[in-house]
Amino acid sequence: MLLERGKERARRLWGLSVEVGIVKADLETERDDLIDFDKQIFPDESWIDCLEQEWFQDILEAWWVFVGDVRAGCVVFVRGINVNKAGFSIRNKRYLWIASTGLLPEFRGRGIGKTLKAWQIAYAREEGFQKLVTQCRVSNARMIGINKRFGFQERRIYPGSYQNPEEDGVVMELKLR
Ligand SMILES: CC(C)(COP(=O)(O)OP(=O)(O)OC[C@H]1O[C@@H](n2cnc3c(N)ncnc32)[C@H](O)[C@@H]1OP(=O)(O)O)[C@@H](O)C(=O)NCCC(=O)NCCS
Repeated sequence: MLLERGKERARRLWGLSVEVGIVKADLETERDDLIDFDKQIFPDESWIDCLEQEWFQDILEAWWVFVGDVRAGCVVFVRGINVNKAGFSIRNKRYLWIASTGLLPEFRGRGIGKTLKAWQIAYAREEGFQKLVTQCRVSNARMIGINKRFGFQERRIYPGSYQNPEEDGVVMELKLR
């Protein structure tokens, strides 16, 4: 169902010349695939720690992004999580946290990221969340630009929250209702 709706949205919103499909990953059987895949997207860093942390296990959710039949990217959500002022994760059922949005290099810059953002927002609304929140490097102008274009606002800067190279993170939030 979501796959079909995702495809429709992709075509309608951005007139992509490719067909984008979004399919839920099975974390029981595909965790290692996701970890390997993530290394191709982020060779020097990873969100894998959230896949391995006991605390997150019941609220993690991952999706594969297909272009045609090819796995082109993935999206990871943590359901019901926000961050406090100190940068620690806290449970808050109003929030859907986007832990990762990534495409393999050859699929970037073709409008797929914007399509994914549109889908993430629609999905969060469908699932009844009130806020969508995400973080990226302060230098990630492309991701920050996409987020702003969809109405996300900068909420906080976390000094030194990334490694390799060390860099500040910016937390951005979208109010859904
Ligand atoms: C971030 C990512 C998901 C975006 O997807 P994408 O398919 O490359 O992005 P799109 O082609 O849909 O859109 C790119 C938009 O950013 C804009 N953009 C590109 N570089 C930019 C810059 N330096 N400053 C501002 N905007 C920029 C483009 O102009 C385009 O918008 P436009 O079409 O309105 O002009 C993808 O590039 C990616 O996987 N990158 C590596 C992983 C990553 O950084 N993930 C995010 C952190 S979790």
